[in-house]
Amino acid sequence: MTDRPTAPDPRPPHPAPDATPDLSSRDPDWWRQAVVYQIYPRSFADADGDGLGDLRGITRRLTRLSALGVDALWLSPFYPSELADGGYDVADPRDVDPRLGTLDDFDALVREAHRLGLKVIVDIVPNHTSHQHVWFQEALRAGPGSPARDRYVFRDGRGASGELPPTDWQSVFGGSAWQRVPDGQWYLHLFAAEQPDLNWDHPDVREDFRTTLRFWSDRGVDGFRIDVAHALTKDLEEPLRDLGDHAAGGEAALVDFAPGTHPFYDRDETHEIYRDWRKIFDTYTPPRTAVAEAWVPGARRALYARPDELGQAFNFEYLEAVWDADELRQVITDSLATAQAAGASATWVLSNHDVIRHASRLMLPPGTDTNAWLLSGGKAPAVDPEAGLRRARAATLLMLALPGSAYVYQGEELGLPEVADLPTSVLQDPIWEQTGRVRKGRDGCRVPLPWTTTGPSYGFGANGAWLPQPPSFAAYSVEAQDGVEGSTLELYRTALRLRRKLIDGETLKWAEDTPEGVLQFDRGDGWRCVTNLSAAPVPLPPGEVALTSAPLEDGHLPPDTTAWLTR
Ligand code: NOJ
Repeated sequence: MTDRPTAPDPRPPHPAPDATPDLSSRDPDWWRQAVVYQIYPRSFADADGDGLGDLRGITRRLTRLSALGVDALWLSPFYPSELADGGYDVADPRDVDPRLGTLDDFDALVREAHRLGLKVIVDIVPNHTSHQHVWFQEALRAGPGSPARDRYVFRDGRGASGELPPTDWQSVFGGSAWQRVPDGQWYLHLFAAEQPDLNWDHPDVREDFRTTLRFWSDRGVDGFRIDVAHALTKDLEEPLRDLGDHAAGGEAALVDFAPGTHPFYDRDETHEIYRDWRKIFDTYTPPRTAVAEAWVPGARRALYARPDELGQAFNFEYLEAVWDADELRQVITDSLATAQAAGASATWVLSNHDVIRHASRLMLPPGTDTNAWLLSGGKAPAVDPEAGLRRARAATLLMLALPGSAYVYQGEELGLPEVADLPTSVLQDPIWEQTGRVRKGRDGCRVPLPWTTTGPSYGFGANGAWLPQPPSFAAYSVEAQDGVEGSTLELYRTALRLRRKLIDGETLKWAEDTPEGVLQFDRGDGWRCVTNLSAAPVPLPPGEVALTSAPLEDGHLPPDTTAWLTR
């Protein structure tokens, strides 16, 4: 592709909402109720027309994010990477992938974000590196028993000539978690074979990550998202144990293990690392923040969010909850209690780059085999996009009324559905090949954003996009929704502006006498949120209607609708 400039932004953004950007904000608690917008850089905006999103593309659109009303950006990895796992295979954690820009471009992005009052969070990937990382290349050359191999997890194989992997451990992406190298040894990779696991018992590994945290903090980064935060330390005492029926990767592997005893997930000694990192975070003003990506059960997850560790952890129970009033109420109550017990603020997430977008997911009947759904191209069962969007908007207004911080994934403010019918020939997620083409993977939520109603990639860039966008994206584009009353983009803008005004305290109070299938709670002084998850319209509770996710019907709250009321 050529080097033509990106398509211009269609219309000037709306003025930023009320809150005056506080550039010098030194408030140490800014993150507790922040709305954080996740950018998947390769799919956000392509400034140089090579089909991949880049840092300059992001910088050019920052005024739009400020006008949307978010408080912070989280950038998924933009580091040098061969993209074996969408950038989570990091070849150099202290540089920018040349296809995405330079360190100067990064500095310009941070400067502009701060000028607009937006904080910047970057992704740290401490469980593994890319196999292209200098350390791994050195380890391959240095051979068995060398100090260089000790920074990773190399072992001899089993069987007469070491031809069998050292254990039965499985990769999260499918298949054995061990890969053999030409000299006969095997190395551990809990994810793709191109992502060798680091050995966190090695002092070089610990020191290098301290350097990385300081490197980005010194460049003005305000916080960090910690990838696979629960897998860093491992029980590598010989002999390594087989796991039998529990060998599969992922959260399910934790079932049946006493807390902290699984050989490579959620081990107690992992917390020492984060206590060490907290000391670094606290040398900055305001202290750098962090959020753990830890797919572990609630009470264990909260440990990562303790104030002397990372401070926050993603609440995946909320993301995984089905669209049911009783289940959601329970999850919300438990999440608030768990976060409070840890001294953290709660977090809420509906979508990210690893899961089916919530405008589609919330319509799937509970228990749906989501991989089978993806393999059917989103046809079995079929999801009505309008009904999905209606439910997603209701879920979003509910989320944005909850105490704590909300993580919004790029494109959800446009109401984007999952692109479930990507042809298998274009799939990039390593899950597809690593499972022997059985699991379709996560590309359907990573399709580049539509900015305009026309153009070769709907304004994403001047040329094509690295994953094909469906024609239906035109109607979801920023251009199609900007300034259009009732559009999802305008709903998010209004909701975020109101949220800033209405936020008061970090607690909620449930209403007890609500109709079946209705969730209703009050926040602070006069902010009431009511969601109708039942199949029939319900009367509105007292209050002045400030915002609804769908029009009211004869003064009633229709199904799959949330209303915010004020006193
Ligand atoms: C979690 C990230 O969100 C996901 O995209 C990635 O594949 C794995 N960690 C491995 O880094």
